[in-house]
Amino acid sequence: MDCDLCKHISIIGAGTMGSAIVSGLIESNYNPSLITIANPHQDNLKQLIPLGVNVTTDNVDAIKGADLIIIAVKPCILPLVLSQLKNNIDYHKQEITIVVAGVSGNDISSMLVKDDKVALPILSIAMPNTAMRVRKSMTFIVQVNGQAYTAIPVFEMLGKTMIIEERLLPAATALASCGIAYAMRYVRAACAGGVELGFKASQAQEIVAETIDGAAYLLSLPGAHPESEIDKVTTPGGLTIKGLNAMEAAGFTNAVIAGLKAGR
Ligand SMILES: NC(=O)c1ccc[n+]([C@@H]2O[C@H](COP(=O)([O-])OP(=O)(O)OC[C@H]3O[C@@H](n4cnc5c(N)ncnc54)[C@H](OP(=O)(O)O)[C@@H]3O)[C@@H](O)[C@H]2O)c1
Repeated sequence: MDCDLCKHISIIGAGTMGSAIVSGLIESNYNPSLITIANPHQDNLKQLIPLGVNVTTDNVDAIKGADLIIIAVKPCILPLVLSQLKNNIDYHKQEITIVVAGVSGNDISSMLVKDDKVALPILSIAMPNTAMRVRKSMTFIVQVNGQAYTAIPVFEMLGKTMIIEERLLPAATALASCGIAYAMRYVRAACAGGVELGFKASQAQEIVAETIDGAAYLLSLPGAHPESEIDKVTTPGGLTIKGLNAMEAAGFTNAVIAGLKAGR
């Protein structure tokens, strides 16, 4: 691990996202003693204790000495958490990243204004997906105030990052955060088809997962494009093109686009 990244990281909220951040950092050999995670109830913390990270039920205690504070709570809880924490955060030294969907940079900035109107801290919104746990997240970062120089390398340890403008955040969330669920739904559909074609469910799942992994890897190669990969497997008059055309006749592309638009 690059020693420049040996920062103290505090995570507020030990739900799906907070726990996935911890698991992904531990997977990337991040020193667990540099990670603190807070949650009001012990249940979610208990499973993180064996990883060697610091756990607490006290949010204010959790952020002491943190270089980066990551807040991963439900949107309705965010105002409460920020009002509780803001007077305990050193805006000159501590960077904040919000992992909360559907809250604007302006709203978060207003929630962080202190009574003495001290300048805002370095602030970003990060929109990862659950694959952080296995360091395969596609994480979008909106730099709300200043350059997120600690948050970016931290999320890079958990997969790929892309810095985007805030206006693209709903689209990014639909494509990559909800996208995990959409991809899983394809997997489930393909598995159901595989069982009908004669495979056991477990075999079908393994086959579909490997096939998707292979397809994703092919797309990662320089110059790759989905249509050129499709052309390579569609013999004129062959079975693959018949399968693709049947899927289109049933509305495959339209269904995916409609789902993405509905999920923004
Ligand atoms: N899930 C995704 O795929 C995804 C993707 C991108 C972004 N997000 C965003 O990430 C945020 C967190 O989502 P999630 O799926 O991790 O939700 P979650 O599983 O419900 O986790 C939220 C956690 O916050 C804790 N919490 C509640 N009140 C708190 C407080 N006052 N202080 C500290 N922690 C508190 C909850 O604890 P208790 O349960 O013990 O009350 C829970 O462990 C959401 O805003 C969501 O929009 C989620």
